[in-house]
Amino acid sequence: MSAKSMDELVSLCKRRGFIFQSSEIYGGLQGMYDFGPLGVELKNNLKSAWWKSMVYERDDVEGLDASILTNQLVLNYSGHEDTFTDPLVDCKSCKSRWRADQIGDTCPNCGSKDLTDPRPFNLMFKTNMGPLEDEGSIAYLRPETAQQIFTNFKNIVDSTSRALPFGIAQIGKAFRNEITPRNFIFRVREFEQMELEFFVEPGEDNLWHDKWIEERSNWWESQGVSKKKIRFLEVPKDELSHYSKRTVDLMYEFPHGEEELEGIANRTDFDLGSHSKNQDQLNIQSKIRKNSDSNSRLAIQNKDTNEWIVPFVIEPSAGVERGVLAILNEAYKVEKLEDGKERIVLALKPHLSPIKAAVIPLKKNNDDLVSLAKNIKDELQSLGKGRVLLENTGNIGKSYRKHDEVGTPMCITIDFDSLENNTVTIRDRDSMDQKTIQIQELTSYFSNFFK
Ligand code: GAP
Repeated sequence: MSAKSMDELVSLCKRRGFIFQSSEIYGGLQGMYDFGPLGVELKNNLKSAWWKSMVYERDDVEGLDASILTNQLVLNYSGHEDTFTDPLVDCKSCKSRWRADQIGDTCPNCGSKDLTDPRPFNLMFKTNMGPLEDEGSIAYLRPETAQQIFTNFKNIVDSTSRALPFGIAQIGKAFRNEITPRNFIFRVREFEQMELEFFVEPGEDNLWHDKWIEERSNWWESQGVSKKKIRFLEVPKDELSHYSKRTVDLMYEFPHGEEELEGIANRTDFDLGSHSKNQDQLNIQSKIRKNSDSNSRLAIQNKDTNEWIVPFVIEPSAGVERGVLAILNEAYKVEKLEDGKERIVLALKPHLSPIKAAVIPLKKNNDDLVSLAKNIKDELQSLGKGRVLLENTGNIGKSYRKHDEVGTPMCITIDFDSLENNTVTIRDRDSMDQKTIQIQELTSYFSNFFK
């Protein structure tokens, strides 16, 4: 069972320190959120899980961390300056602005049907670099992390000697001036993407596309997002992005409705072809504009035939915020207890939990208990499995409730038996079962649990 409403998730996130509205003390900044003490851990854990599965556990992917500010030419040749737009309408009555494709013919604010004709609104954030604000100093905050992967293609091929097929992975911020940011962290103006550009021989692209669709839905399942809640949406031809031959969206049932969690696109040879020099010497299949500015041939040589190939690209592209929202939604449970009371429990996969274990001394003013708890906390912390917390509130019941709500898989209680018999009590978040183990067994128990 997942959360009943977005309000429940928003409330938990604020109450427990996962996510706050940005600039809240000044009334907020629309479409921006800040990740608090637990949110930053959850987000980092999700990104690490993606990186681990994409880069470390594969032998055919390299990583990259490119700049956010992007040369105007990159986003010109990529097509974003011309086509990265949403249709904008104004309500002539109440002066509000909307995305035409989201509202039909009626203003959601005042009900008027007196709307302007839709006009394209470019979603990129533009800025100026250096002291002069003129046409020559324009730069953009990247609207997707992908473009700098394409512009670094030759650097990475030359420095790693990669042959096809291989991929380049990147996690980082992207910015879009969404007309109507909404639904908590689902649609925001500043967010993070986890993107892989996987380069393949033309002709092998369809096969690799299907493989990646399968891989990605399996991965979400391993993060706790049930496959039953994911539907594959074949994006209709007339809705495809300008670069795409085929896109399949992983649609997830968010609390506000079914929407895109991740898109997996076949970007063909459009991007490398668009950013390449000597385009007419390369057998580029997609429709591209002539590039008179690039100084690099974005192609790879077939080692057997010596032929230059512009690879096709398969791109699984996921939003970190949408991932966090889906994971929170899946993990959130309200359980009826035997005594008739309820508890909220966040049944996160342990590798995603913001706090791996809470070490709780039975009495907060007992120096011996607190000092032993602190030593145990330090020891577990040093194992590198993630954050371990010394929870010194003196109220065991309250601590258990808090750690159920934030998804801590285990609470370790230090009591007088710990001083006398070298034992601790471990309480399991999901079953609420408690067991006693020897302190000397604790590190191996803990390490095995988070293996
Ligand atoms: N490079 C391809 C690309 O950017 P996209 O479908 O526009 O494709 C990929 O974005 C993913 O980025 C989406 O599936 C979504 O998870 C996330 N995303 C896009 N716009 C977003 C927004 N305004 N707020 C939060 N996440 C967003």
